Amino acid sequence: EPVQQNPLVSMHKDAADFYHQILMTTRIGERGLSYAKERELDEDLLKHFDIGYAPGNGDVLYTFLKEKGYSEEQLIESGLFVQSQDGRLFDRFRDRLMFPMKDETGHPVAFSGRRISNNDKEPKYLNSPETSIFTKSKLLFHFSEAKKVARKEGHLILFEGHMDVVSAYKAGIKSGIASMGTSLTQDQVYMIRRITNNVVINYDGDAPGVSAAERAVGLFKQAGNFNLGIVVLPEKLDPDEYVKKYGPERYQQEIKGAISPTDFYLLRLKQKYNLNNEREKMAYLNDAMTEIASLASPVEQDIYLQRLGKESGVSTDALKASLSRARRRQR
Ligand code: GTP
Ligand code: MN
Ligand code: MN
Ligand code: MN
Ligand code: MN
Repeated sequence: EPVQQNPLVSMHKDAADFYHQILMTTRIGERGLSYAKERELDEDLLKHFDIGYAPGNGDVLYTFLKEKGYSEEQLIESGLFVQSQDGRLFDRFRDRLMFPMKDETGHPVAFSGRRISNNDKEPKYLNSPETSIFTKSKLLFHFSEAKKVARKEGHLILFEGHMDVVSAYKAGIKSGIASMGTSLTQDQVYMIRRITNNVVINYDGDAPGVSAAERAVGLFKQAGNFNLGIVVLPEKLDPDEYVKKYGPERYQQEIKGAISPTDFYLLRLKQKYNLNNEREKMAYLNDAMTEIASLASPVEQDIYLQRLGKESGVSTDALKASLSRARRRQR
């Protein structure tokens, strides 16, 4: 590998190695390691994701990087430090499990740190601020590794958080990436498209996760030409919690059972109506027909019609008649 020219990038590599060594080999890192164990992260995972530990004291990283020869100015620019009133620098990340965030070529350019203490006055995750080497909207967690897997397997899996990517990886789903809480951006969609058109969205099963998935589907559709699957996990679980509760095999089944954007839309639509009420059922069927009428392929339309007929008890003939009406309305 060529020598890293940009000092901010090499600084992040040094910092990532430093945090990782602290976690894996030191007394002070034991606190981080026991948290990692609690979250069922084994040694292989900690190594694959270069996970580290940032100690609670305020200047270990500062001292380490200063000794490596980085200038005060470079340290300020890196975003790894906060400055006190009198201008002194202190480590930004304290007592956190550290996830390096890497650019497309695999070089760490920022960190996300998971709080270990229960002190909820501190944010659960703390991210590096944007710098000359880190633009949040243009980075996807684990993208540099996942794209290699995607070239073989032919698809990428999109998650909300790092822990979901990590747990899925442990469960054998190795092409996971995450937009990390912030809503997916158009730039990230284009990054994904350069690798593959096949994307499975597996956001958290809670209400914010499902809404975010709806939004993501919209973004992918806007960019065009994607083959999407959506996984909605039960019991409001996120992928990490699901794997913990039901194990890797059942999780892999969930991924295989990803539903189409149309099924996802119809599922969401159904939840908005009380189908025991005839009027609401009629409104649901109308909305469903409008969605089905917008599908390009007649075969696809027919499949969804049959299904809708079965579940609603309305004859497929009647549904077909109202479909052609819905189609006329859309012209
Ligand atoms: P765990 O509790 O560690 O399992 O995290 P999670 O990934 O399940 O968190 P959650 O579903 O609440 O949020 C999804 C993602 O949003 C996280 O992975 C983070 O990237 C981001 N996020 C969550 N909380 C915070 C926060 O307090 N600050 C910031 N900046 N991001 C957050
Ligand atoms: Mn490198
Ligand atoms: Mn969530
Ligand atoms: Mn979550
Ligand atoms: Mn979680």
